[in-house]
Amino acid sequence: MSVPYADLRLQYDTIKNDIDLAIAAVIRDSAFIRGPYVETFERAFAAVVDVKHCISCANGTDALYIAMAALNIEQGDEVITTAHSWISTSAMITHAGGNVVFCDTDGSTYTIDPVAIECAITPRTVGIIPVHLYGQPANMNAIMAIARKHSLWVIEDCAQAHLARYEGRQVGTFGNAATYSFYPGKNLGAMGDAGAVVTNDGDLARRMTILARHGGLTKHQHSVEGINSRLDGLQAAILSAKLPHLSRWTSARQAAAAVYNAGLNQIEDVELPSVAAGRSHVYHLYTIQHPRRDELAAHLGANGVQTAINYPVALPFLEAYSRFGHRSEQFPNAHRQQSRILSLPMFAEITADQQKTVVDLIRAFA
Ligand SMILES: Cc1ncc(COP(=O)(O)O)c(C=O)c1O
Repeated sequence: MSVPYADLRLQYDTIKNDIDLAIAAVIRDSAFIRGPYVETFERAFAAVVDVKHCISCANGTDALYIAMAALNIEQGDEVITTAHSWISTSAMITHAGGNVVFCDTDGSTYTIDPVAIECAITPRTVGIIPVHLYGQPANMNAIMAIARKHSLWVIEDCAQAHLARYEGRQVGTFGNAATYSFYPGKNLGAMGDAGAVVTNDGDLARRMTILARHGGLTKHQHSVEGINSRLDGLQAAILSAKLPHLSRWTSARQAAAAVYNAGLNQIEDVELPSVAAGRSHVYHLYTIQHPRRDELAAHLGANGVQTAINYPVALPFLEAYSRFGHRSEQFPNAHRQQSRILSLPMFAEITADQQKTVVDLIRAFA
């Protein structure tokens, strides 16, 4: 049996009628840019995340840029983020005019280590971007306490963590703003690029909206130089059709993770994802560690199981950051994990048989 890493076609098949009707309605109304479908999704997503404002945009990368630009980063301002994420998180700090300062992860949850944040703060630090990586919330109590102590803003990168909760409270509601990606493979995915930034701060919401819309809310009146970052009507309608299913899909991912945990638990050398107390993990990715990761991935691939490495080179060690001259001892956890992590097939519709195939192959490898 072959097991795909994710199966977007299968998800579409389960809600085909709703998606087809949503697309047809947008085409019928020629509501391609902004308009009612975008507004409906923004309202619905804000309600689901439990925030006052949702500003949709073209993708999760733009969302990070828009949030930081609206927080008025100035040249030389330092922004602290995690060594373990997708490059959008750090690249947008630079594009918004800031200096990237990486911190190591905590060694067990793949999220930023609050102790490392404290050590990295300087008089130039203006903000922190924690990433709820793989779907597990970062240590938000500790991070928000540090931010309050040093008067820093916080932007939560929730690209992989739709509906994840920290001590019962939804991620995206802790920081000054939070960014989401609706890239097709995300827990809530569009059929193209899409993203959003959310906030409870009305003034920040207004500045972010202006920035995302060419620097003005009224046509031909540009108060600042903005960018063009829009969610299109088709993607908004598709996302609105999918949103009511997100909670059920999240539970299905969590159930699939429990099946993997039970099956892989006793297998030598396999390190399971560890979830810290008080955090609910939404398993955008189910990522294990193994000392012979590349051999294991090859073994699974040869037997029809797709896997991925998220990410093979931790951010500080990418060529894009060679100017900093980072050393592995500065980020021991991220450095150790980059050669051990392996993401297994994970999607809401994965079957027990598919999971058994994966588990049996890993056991056979051991
Ligand atoms: C943690 C993280 N941040 C930001 C992004 C950027 O999102 P997008 O691909 O929608 O630009 C992603 C998506 O891959 C991500 O995983």
